[in-house]
Amino acid sequence: MASSSGSPYQLLFSLTVLLLLPLSSLSADPDPLQDFCVADRNATISVNGFPCKPISQVTSEDFFFSGLMKEGNTSNIFGSTVTLGNVLEFPGLNTLGISMNRVDFAPGGINPPHSHPRATESGVVIQGKLLVGFVTTNNVYYSKVLSAGQMFVIPRGLVHFQRNVGEGKAFTLAAFNSHLPGAVVAPTTLFASTPSIPNEVLTQTFQVEEEVINSIKSKIGGTIY
Ligand SMILES: *[C@@H]1O[C@H](CO)[C@@H](O)[C@H](O)[C@H]1NC(C)=O
Ligand SMILES: *[C@@H]1O[C@H](CO)[C@@H](O)[C@H](O)[C@H]1NC(C)=O
Repeated sequence: MASSSGSPYQLLFSLTVLLLLPLSSLSADPDPLQDFCVADRNATISVNGFPCKPISQVTSEDFFFSGLMKEGNTSNIFGSTVTLGNVLEFPGLNTLGISMNRVDFAPGGINPPHSHPRATESGVVIQGKLLVGFVTTNNVYYSKVLSAGQMFVIPRGLVHFQRNVGEGKAFTLAAFNSHLPGAVVAPTTLFASTPSIPNEVLTQTFQVEEEVINSIKSKIGGTIY
């Protein structure tokens, strides 16, 4: 690029890179325009992210987070729990395009099918044995059983799950290329939204009688997940 000779190929290459650059920045959170921007979660103005806390008020504590140390409580119908380490819990992540969750599993527990609209996920199993699977937009299912130390990747936006298929408890740490990846959890999205999706939409979608929908709603309904 520093060459001044500018052969047609170099020019074409430079133009291609320039044209592709803005596209690549759409694949994750936008790049920050400063070293950091610790979120001021009390700010009343609304922007794409959070406004920055004044630098004079920033301390070391803003860049460290202990929230993922503790095992989550898995006493719920899914036998799993997600502990979030996103910008809402850890304001130092604001604008940096990265975050991390911890997911704990009871024996047999499942992190039910869900997707992250704003991030690709890359996780490592820390303890136990997990079946990790996702489905592509072509409806192809990819999966593998992973043990401690093994990693997985879930391409952005694709529906995926993890299920504890080992003998004991399991947990995984999962990183995201967004400070707030978001989660669309299939069972709660479809059966426990507020207000509810009308039953006729669900009976027609799944080709079942209303009792089946009511039964699912009664089980999923109480879940805050
Ligand atoms: C937000 O408000 C709470 C409660 O008033 C306060 O403890 C906290 O320090 C404030 N945070 C920021 C970033 O100003
Ligand atoms: C875990 O959650 C269940 C259900 O909400 C509750 O009854 C139980 O006390 C919790 N256990 C711990 C150790 O917090």
